[in-house]
Amino acid sequence: MPGHPFIKIAPSILAADFANFGAECRAIEDQGADWVHVDVMDGHFVPNLTFGPAMCAALRPHIKGVMDVHLMIAPVDPYLEAFAAAGADILTAHIEAGPHIHRTLQAIRSLGKKAGVALNPGTSVEAVADLLDMIDLVCVMTVNPGFGGQGFIDSQVPKIARLRALIGDRPVHLQVDGGVTVTTAPMVARAGADVLVAGSAVFKGGSAVNPAPYGANIRAIRAAAEAALG
Ligand code: DX5
Ligand code: ZN
Repeated sequence: MPGHPFIKIAPSILAADFANFGAECRAIEDQGADWVHVDVMDGHFVPNLTFGPAMCAALRPHIKGVMDVHLMIAPVDPYLEAFAAAGADILTAHIEAGPHIHRTLQAIRSLGKKAGVALNPGTSVEAVADLLDMIDLVCVMTVNPGFGGQGFIDSQVPKIARLRALIGDRPVHLQVDGGVTVTTAPMVARAGADVLVAGSAVFKGGSAVNPAPYGANIRAIRAAAEAALG
């Protein structure tokens, strides 16, 4: 079966052992993760708290590849410089986090980072139509952000397809985040996603000292996505 090397798997460390993040990052990369997805939550924009720029800076030496930082915070602008200095490669802000997403994306690019925009399940794709020439990534949330392990919201699949059409041949990644498993990966890949974030589906059954299940889970999700592409 032909491979589809453009499908990237980005494990979310929200599902990792919080007492062992450095080893967890090394383990998922060793087991085939393409990017490391870091979920930053503020207890205000989303109803949960995770970590800030100091944690990202501490993780940086443990991540060889791409540190993909998903900012679920409002306001976001005052913190961009700190997350950039912490070594993030991609900074993704939510379109719903404030009135000035255009300014936020400009600021991310001016800090020398790749810029992403995330859409909650209730936000229409048209909201990003005028941003596509200034971003590197669009993230479609297939759960309401705030927690790992939630059920995939099927109504978002047509939205992914509409976004893929809007993106056209621009060099913009189409990321899907929330409820991605071996069961849902085929749908999102077929709709045009090329970066799959997965938390619980990657970390289940393994640990930093027993990382083989991480590799099996990553391979299974990737294979399911690629098989759907034929
Ligand atoms: C949700 C986060 C996701 C989450 C995904 O707010 O943005 O990245 O950790 O977790 P799973 O894959 O368990 O739905
Ligand atoms: Zn996320």
